[in-house]
Amino acid sequence: MKNYLTVKDIDDLSQWVNTAIDLKKDPLRFRSLGQNKTLAMLFFNSSLRTRLSTHKAALNLGMDVMVMNIGKDGWILDFEEGSVMDRHSAEHIKEAAQVVAQYCDIVAVRAFASLQDKQSDEAELVLNGFAKYAGVPIVNMESSIHHPLQALADAITIEEFRKTETPKVVLSWAPHPRPLPHAVANSFVELMQISKADFILTHPPGYELNPEITRNCRIEYDQEKALENADFVYAKNWSSYQDYGRILHKNREWMMTEAKLGNAHFMHCLPVRRNVVVEDAVLDSNKSLIHAQANNRTYAAQLVLKKLLDSHSNG
Ligand code: CP
Repeated sequence: MKNYLTVKDIDDLSQWVNTAIDLKKDPLRFRSLGQNKTLAMLFFNSSLRTRLSTHKAALNLGMDVMVMNIGKDGWILDFEEGSVMDRHSAEHIKEAAQVVAQYCDIVAVRAFASLQDKQSDEAELVLNGFAKYAGVPIVNMESSIHHPLQALADAITIEEFRKTETPKVVLSWAPHPRPLPHAVANSFVELMQISKADFILTHPPGYELNPEITRNCRIEYDQEKALENADFVYAKNWSSYQDYGRILHKNREWMMTEAKLGNAHFMHCLPVRRNVVVEDAVLDSNKSLIHAQANNRTYAAQLVLKKLLDSHSNG
């Protein structure tokens, strides 16, 4: 594997999930693999789970780690080919990516969607810029369009808690006071497309995700109907894709409640707004898998870093 940029980089989901579950039983087993190797983690946006779990994953493999809040402390980057840099940007991605790569063996990048300009967000300028110019493996720690480390952790969690061969999994849009990107939902949909699951996507009209991503997905606009007999319910907000980056209507009635959840397990990537996205009674119940998901972020990241180190050392 050259990079881990999207769920499509997973070549055999069931093998990946089982290997991650094995790693979890003995996280320090490959501690010598990362010796004298360095991971650089570059954050253009805030993080709690991704930052700490990926750092921990690298330490478990014996790697050194460098972290930079590049969005706050770095130079403003330019991504245009042939750009005349006489405005805000001080450094081009061509120099930045190649320089960072000289200091490390793997670069992990977090750069969210701006939600201002669909075309520019979909070009994934930051992630693709590093992938194009760094010359070392790149890990996506959430980009404009994808959050594949989260999706892999979610796959591990579903495997650990599923009671049937083909569980019913529902991704349910949830209300939120701020417009949020589509990355978590997109990657979860892509994950479901390669999983053994009876998957339904439910959201109010107007919150359709990119149809290229939801191709062949069952979409149900009636939340109650979608949730019937669910085994796993993943609640997540996203802003409108068609009316790009906008909140169309508040739809507070879409909040996940204990009554709606029934006997299903509850999932959310976190951070979560209590009593807006989901009520306390769900989050504080034993049906909630939020801590298991967050814990599995470490083993998802560790598996990805291990695979990249293995590919690199095998040439
Ligand atoms: N789920 C997730 O990516 O959390 P952070 O934004 O805190 O990293």
